Amino acid sequence: MNNTFPIKRNSLLFAPMEGITDEAYRLAVMNTFPEWDLFSTDFLRVPTEGSFSKKFILEHFGKTAYTNLDLRNKTAFQILANEKGNTPLACQQIENLGFKHLDLNLGCPSKRVNQHLGGAYLLSDLKSLQKIIKDIRTNYPHHFTVKMRIGYRDDSNFLDCIKLFENEGVDAITIHGRTRDQLYKGIADWKYIKMATKATSIPIIGNGDIWTVADIENIFDYTNCHSIMLGRGALKTPWLAPLFKKQKSHNKDDLFEIRKKKIPLYFSSLKEEYSKKCSQDALILKRFKSFSRNIFDDFPQNEIVKRKFMRSKNLEEFEEYLDFFCK
Ligand SMILES: Cc1cc2nc3c(=O)[nH]c(=O)nc-3n(C[C@H](O)[C@H](O)[C@H](O)COP(=O)(O)O)c2cc1C
Repeated sequence: MNNTFPIKRNSLLFAPMEGITDEAYRLAVMNTFPEWDLFSTDFLRVPTEGSFSKKFILEHFGKTAYTNLDLRNKTAFQILANEKGNTPLACQQIENLGFKHLDLNLGCPSKRVNQHLGGAYLLSDLKSLQKIIKDIRTNYPHHFTVKMRIGYRDDSNFLDCIKLFENEGVDAITIHGRTRDQLYKGIADWKYIKMATKATSIPIIGNGDIWTVADIENIFDYTNCHSIMLGRGALKTPWLAPLFKKQKSHNKDDLFEIRKKKIPLYFSSLKEEYSKKCSQDALILKRFKSFSRNIFDDFPQNEIVKRKFMRSKNLEEFEEYLDFFCK
């Protein structure tokens, strides 16, 4: 068991996001905005029959990120487990490959995942949860963190879960302030993050609806959390980590000018990394379009701007719009 969490206080973590934070995406952001302190893979499901192959684990993590020790150690490996899977074996395999940080997904709200008694479902079944946590802790000697919502149907088990994690030797807890049933409705409630920092000495990582530098300052002040993790806010403003760390105040106009400068850099770095993985421009364009959903929110007439990007027929057209709108 590790008593020292490797992440220093006030760190900024880039959240795992299935379908987005694959190796190419992470490398692009790591190269362009190295101020993010930690990344994570999205979840790898522990198989209920058989075991992972080494190839499968490495493909999920990405071979470039794996072979570079600095990049490997800057990325947590996330798993999704239920009671049926051979979690001890999965942990041993991940450990044998030299991964130093394992994260357990306890927040996934997907119906399919929850029907298979994994993800956020486990927050409603403390017996299964304890077994899985014990299995991981016993078989994985390095940093072991969990990423949770505040409950499944409701928040009634919240503090019991926090105590369970503390008693079983979890090294840090990321908390997204919504129940599973809330999905993404309303605004994440940071009150639970504050409650957890008072209830345990384990580092608490605050997550949910952090969009701006002011939000970062507010969540640290209000909750006294150890560090924070950003998902959608990081997708909208991947340069938020450098913006926060430079500690310089910016007005709305400055922020817009910075946005216009950073967007082309971001897309060009993504293109470089995606091109190494897939040669098809159509696939890259599809991804670019998905990132257009909120990155242009702050532009004047943003609905029209977004429509232009979303309707681009090819990558060249998308890039022409980037030149036009970001000049
Ligand atoms: C598209 C998408 C995919 C996600 N995939 C994962 C995942 O694989 N593992 C996980 O723990 N959380 C996942 N999440 C949840 C985020 O990591 C984060 O906890 C959540 O979005 C709340 O933070 P935010 O308000 O900063 O977005 C995902 C979120 C989104 C939007």
